[in-house]
Amino acid sequence: MRLDPPPERNAAHARPAAIRVIAVLIALLSAACRPAAGPRDEPGAPAGRRPTETAPRTPARDLLPGEAVGARCLVAADHPVASRAGLEILRLGGNAVDAAVAVSFTLSVVRPDSCGIGGGGFMLIHLQNDPRFGTLDTAIDYRERAPAAAAPGMFESLPPGASTDSGAAVAVPGTVAGLLYALDRYGTLPRETVLAPAIRAATEGFAIDSYTLASRRESLLRRARLQGPDAVTAVNAMLDAPEALRPGAIVADPEQARALALIRDHGVTAFYQGEIARAIIDTVRLHGGLMTTDDLAAFEPREVKPIEGRFMGRRVLAMPPPSSGGIALLQILGVMERRPETRAAAHPKEPLYTFILSEAMRHAFADRARYLADPEFTTIPIDKLLDPAMLDARAAAIDPSHATPIELCGWRADLAPHNADAPAPARGERRGEGPSLPPFLKDDHGTSHFSIIDSRGHAVACTETINIEYGSGIAVAGFGFMLNNEMDDFLTRRGEVNAFGLTQADANLPGPRKRPLSSMTPTILLSDRGEVELVAGGSGGPRIISATAQAVLNAIVFGMTAGEAVAARRVHHQWRPDTLVIEPGYSTGRPWNDASHVGGRDRAAVETMRRELLSRGCTLGSRDAIAQVQLVRRATEGEGWNGASDPRKGGEAAGE
Ligand code: DON
Repeated sequence: MRLDPPPERNAAHARPAAIRVIAVLIALLSAACRPAAGPRDEPGAPAGRRPTETAPRTPARDLLPGEAVGARCLVAADHPVASRAGLEILRLGGNAVDAAVAVSFTLSVVRPDSCGIGGGGFMLIHLQNDPRFGTLDTAIDYRERAPAAAAPGMFESLPPGASTDSGAAVAVPGTVAGLLYALDRYGTLPRETVLAPAIRAATEGFAIDSYTLASRRESLLRRARLQGPDAVTAVNAMLDAPEALRPGAIVADPEQARALALIRDHGVTAFYQGEIARAIIDTVRLHGGLMTTDDLAAFEPREVKPIEGRFMGRRVLAMPPPSSGGIALLQILGVMERRPETRAAAHPKEPLYTFILSEAMRHAFADRARYLADPEFTTIPIDKLLDPAMLDARAAAIDPSHATPIELCGWRADLAPHNADAPAPARGERRGEGPSLPPFLKDDHGTSHFSIIDSRGHAVACTETINIEYGSGIAVAGFGFMLNNEMDDFLTRRGEVNAFGLTQADANLPGPRKRPLSSMTPTILLSDRGEVELVAGGSGGPRIISATAQAVLNAIVFGMTAGEAVAARRVHHQWRPDTLVIEPGYSTGRPWNDASHVGGRDRAAVETMRRELLSRGCTLGSRDAIAQVQLVRRATEGEGWNGASDPRKGGEAAGE
């Protein structure tokens, strides 16, 4: 990773004039978009943001920051350069899968803290009357796998932090294999075309944004806490002169450009068997990891059938395990659809609706903790967990005046044999985030989601991760990309929670070539005519599930535009800890980027919410930002598409 100081400090630097001009423009734009220090109405409220004056307009209404409309197609990624890369490929005649591959490789360059070729992911695809495949729903699972030498107790004998900050934290990366599989099977353009935008960004540079700067600052803190040879390498280079960097500074990654060019020229073998493979293994082993060349060579993505449910007359396509996201999302939506409070609510900020949502989440996350893991290693009662009769019973059993006792959350009708190894109700419970990471670490940077619709009606929902920000913090020597720390998504120490505070079953202990349980939730909704209506997903650990569910509810139940559905403030409950986490300002109903809630009227709403929830037995907590969602939906007004990148991460959707 190569960093240049902001262009205005470096006028004499030998850099192509066009890039200098672009950098200055971006610096000016980002200054205009910088959040105004906003008033706060609840403890921990974030500095507010106001809609930018530069936001594009439609004749009908102002768009929110990060939002776009498109008559034909739309790409919503969490970085503007990545959204534009997708649009570029669609303009060249590529389909949604071609665009997805381009977006993902570009994100590897522009969001090195969130995802990349050192990680893994899930891609959900809907093809509409495709000349080769007809109408088809499919999913590509390129979740990382543990090395063959992994064992259930492997982290018990290693120092604390080994599952996040060492070579042992690194699982076998799947992204390159998954993307190239998707391209070969469902794409239409050659590798060199879809990799071009990423290689260009890595070679010529891109403007660093305030989100990346914030995540770099957090990495600096993290590095300061790391000891000895496990200390980060590439992050060190990136953090060399943090004071010299401001939003708009041009950053290039010529080393990753080299890796991407090898992948362009030689395909998967470059990564899994060639020069890059050797560098990965040398790097991982230098940092105490167990991965071998055989582990890399053996990696294969899986094409799987999406799981399905129904919500408000739509078909919902979602990801099966080892994602927990699909099952949990379908359960939450299923319970919400069945409750009268959902039909009665005028807005999600209503206390009773919020309470029911919290209950739906508690049940879903209890099931996640008890039953979910890699389906190649354990039997998951998926049919039971998604059985409409079970959801009927679950919804009917919710007492609108009192929270369900925590041990009664989740599917308990048939405890044996599936629940035999489930954590006992009180064991391992901790308040707040888990002990694997120092408490100051933010864990919302290590994943990226994008949603795409093309002019033929094909859609892709894709979520990719390196787990926590900058993954393991270890960059592959000479190739400029970060290696994941996905091993921490396993139950690494019995009786303890993971980096996201999640309680998990023994079924999710590490094992040879096993995939750790994930919360990633790529989602596609189809109308009763079988056409795409909405594409969504997000980043933010377990909060992905709750945030994606709320964005879908906002769009479908409350008829919100994409921008509104994504910007609406959110809540999150993951069963344990038994705390309903609320974004400050939620009860005002104002979007996340509007900090104008400060008056007495809002204080009354905040107080009412607090009183109503506490009286029902909820424990309350707060968090500045609950996940980041990228969503595309059919436009609420007129024809075409409306998409939004979450203002919490500074992305921008692109459409035409
Ligand atoms: O797969 C998972 O569930 C996690 N590795 C996701 C981590 C995450 O979303 C971090 N932040 N954005």
